[in-house]
Amino acid sequence: MLKRTHTCGQLRLSDAGKKVTLAGWAHSYRDHGNLVFIDLRDKFGLTQLVFNPVTHPQAHKLAKTVRCEWVIAAKGLIQPRSEGMENPKLPTGQIELAVEQLEILNVSKTPPFEIDGAEKTGEELRLTSRYIDLRRPRMQEILRVRHRVAKIVRDYFDRLGFLEIETPFLAKSTPEGARDFLVPSRLHKDCFYALPQSPQLFKQILMVGGLDKYFQIVRCFRDEDPRADRQAEFTQIDVEMSFVDTNDVIGVHENLIAKIWKKILDVDVKAPMRRLSYKEALDDYGTDRPDLRFDMKLKDISDIAEKSTFKVFTSAVEKGGIVKGLCAPGQKYSRSDIEKTLTGFVADYGAKGLVWAKLKKENGKLSFVGGLSKFFDPQLQQKIIKRFKAKEGDMLLFVADSKSVANKALAPLRCKLAKDLKLYDKKSFEFVWVIDFPLFEFNEDEKRYDSLHHPFTAPVPEDLDKLETDPAGVRSQAYDIVVNGSEIGGGSIRIHNMKVQQKVFDLLSISKKQAQQQFGFFLKALEYGAPPHGGIAFGLDRLIMLLTGTENIRDVIAFPKTQRGQCLLTDAPSEVDPKQLEELNLRTQKHLRAIEQNTNDQK
Ligand code: AMO
Repeated sequence: MLKRTHTCGQLRLSDAGKKVTLAGWAHSYRDHGNLVFIDLRDKFGLTQLVFNPVTHPQAHKLAKTVRCEWVIAAKGLIQPRSEGMENPKLPTGQIELAVEQLEILNVSKTPPFEIDGAEKTGEELRLTSRYIDLRRPRMQEILRVRHRVAKIVRDYFDRLGFLEIETPFLAKSTPEGARDFLVPSRLHKDCFYALPQSPQLFKQILMVGGLDKYFQIVRCFRDEDPRADRQAEFTQIDVEMSFVDTNDVIGVHENLIAKIWKKILDVDVKAPMRRLSYKEALDDYGTDRPDLRFDMKLKDISDIAEKSTFKVFTSAVEKGGIVKGLCAPGQKYSRSDIEKTLTGFVADYGAKGLVWAKLKKENGKLSFVGGLSKFFDPQLQQKIIKRFKAKEGDMLLFVADSKSVANKALAPLRCKLAKDLKLYDKKSFEFVWVIDFPLFEFNEDEKRYDSLHHPFTAPVPEDLDKLETDPAGVRSQAYDIVVNGSEIGGGSIRIHNMKVQQKVFDLLSISKKQAQQQFGFFLKALEYGAPPHGGIAFGLDRLIMLLTGTENIRDVIAFPKTQRGQCLLTDAPSEVDPKQLEELNLRTQKHLRAIEQNTNDQK
């Protein structure tokens, strides 16, 4: 077998005259009468092979049998390409390999799609034949970035004295808010392990164990419906530190992010990063994941709207709701765009309507154009214009509803408008820490409190007394890091005092018995000298999406699951042998029906 001496991305004009052997996949094939050209591809690039029937008839004859994606090795001389035949787009575009000896290492069936055309190929086909899809330079580039980020993370934490420690996958359920994936135990009939939603409790126990600084690049499992930025099986950069406060954790991770962005994109990230309170984020952007690449802040105009004669507005305020809106620049949207497209858009988020006014200037004064103008006298119009600092040609859009519906509808509308109106540079990054979250949110359906993060998040010390008197007013020591509207990480300072932890469980209506059953081991650990500690977890997949400009999480994972949670390559999940079920003392409905049928047949 010919032995490879160089890669397909390596050789340049300065290598002309060298005898080399390259190996890879036949990417494309051109027969120009006398000469045959094959572009040879490997992970590192493409090199053109040229076969001459006069100088090397045997290799030329064999080359004519080669088809796309066959695996070949070629030995010959590197030569400059003939004048006018250079390809400036390829790093190897100045040279070619004049092949003297060709070896076919393996043949290939015709691939289900062309590597070059894969972008237009349906995702289902790409995932089913992932081994072909992975040959695309784009996929390989993304996986290379992923590898490099993991290496930067490991080097960074290693230098700071953190230890990477593995925590179990076959574990007990941790409450991170999603459903667990369960794994039946063969040795303990009727018992199950849960795959970890995150290593939260283990990393806290590592702190109780005196490990001081821990990190792990770790797979997490959450049985929730996959989305464009969510997978049931995903990877976290998980961290925990002892004797720290919020600023310590934030500082270490701002530097990590800055290092990653510099090394991968050569982008300087400013530290310290901006911080926004949860309240500010919701008031100004309608979400705790604000995209700060553009301004267009939301404004509550309930105090002005209630003085208008517009029934939709006045009755919303009377019912305890709000009138909130934004001011978009430009005249891009026609009346029908607003009334069909934009109104339809907010309706998907639960808003019953979208009210609009465009602004014109007459006699040097701005005023409303559109249906709304007759309900707002000139004075009220001026107040609104002033609040938004609106200009001629701007468009005001309002939602009148409960506070939460108005925010849920306006936050994505703000992002859609900014995208449509090209209000930001797609290549820019705006990082922000969202802090001062409430510790609890009230669950209206179940009439009880839920944790906004998780039940181990510590309250702000000044708010400790409010745990008894005003739980809804207690702020937490949690922090989320958001970039361009995507939450890439989140964490908190933890409760290290058993009594406070117990109080929080009480407020979450987790009974003593339940708490003991679910995390008694953890509560016990807190009683043996738990140090003050805190930590964070970043979504590695989301980081890679941002760093590679990808909008689909499946493109940054070598073997992802579909929207329906399937691995199309291996056909998981799939049925198992009934014998396996028996060993596990399990019966599926289908299995039970088959047994029933069998018994009936025997009667
Ligand atoms: P949290 O649940 O916020 O925190 O997760 C941390 C980060 O992980 C990413 N992430 C996901 N990425 C892809 N698919 C998913 N299904 C998914 N779910 C979460 C997000 C998120 O910001 N134990 C805590 C961390 C801590 O408190 O230290 C935790 O898991 O980018």
